[in-house]
Amino acid sequence: MTITLCEITRDNWKECARMRVEPDQVRFVASNPFSLAQSKYEPECVPLAVYDDEQMVGFVMYRTEDYGLAKVWFIDRVMIGEGHQKKGYGRAAMTLLLERLRSQKGYNAILISFVPENSVAQKLYSSLGFKDTGEIEDGELVYRIGLTG
Ligand SMILES: CC(C)(COP(=O)(O)OP(=O)(O)OC[C@H]1O[C@@H](n2cnc3c(N)ncnc32)[C@H](O)[C@@H]1OP(=O)(O)O)[C@@H](O)C(=O)NCCC(=O)NCCS
Repeated sequence: MTITLCEITRDNWKECARMRVEPDQVRFVASNPFSLAQSKYEPECVPLAVYDDEQMVGFVMYRTEDYGLAKVWFIDRVMIGEGHQKKGYGRAAMTLLLERLRSQKGYNAILISFVPENSVAQKLYSSLGFKDTGEIEDGELVYRIGLTG
């Protein structure tokens, strides 16, 4: 398994747009076409495809939010496509994404949110070091990793 996070381009955006989660997970994450459209009109969003070698297996999207002195990362989307889940891709993609965000200086935290029923996401994020902030935003629990700057 060689996992990479790759830019969305003219060549791969359609494949990304076609990728879906399992039917019972649709309520957990916005669709990829929605996220790709969002990234076009909200250019602070960075959409990335998750690849295992040449095979696209998932999608993530993050953005930075600037609260004056406190700049934070917000991971907006994490999905692994139907048929590709439970093979370690979600954990590997999140690990890579966290490395990428941690490597940039000047940020106070990495934030992520999920609906309370999403126990798979909750366990995965907790095991990666995210802590519950106690905040709820748009019905989603907000978790956080503090950064030292
Ligand atoms: C959450 C998600 C990204 C995880 O991706 P994945 O590739 O299946 O995850 P991994 O294979 O790396 O597994 C990570 C852990 O979750 C567990 N897990 C994954 N799917 C599971 C399931 N359906 N039921 C129970 N446990 C599950 C794995 O056993 C593993 O646990 P471990 O590391 O303690 O052994 C994927 O389930 C998904 O795309 N879900 C729909 C979209 C979503 O919920 N996104 C998050 C919104 S914030």
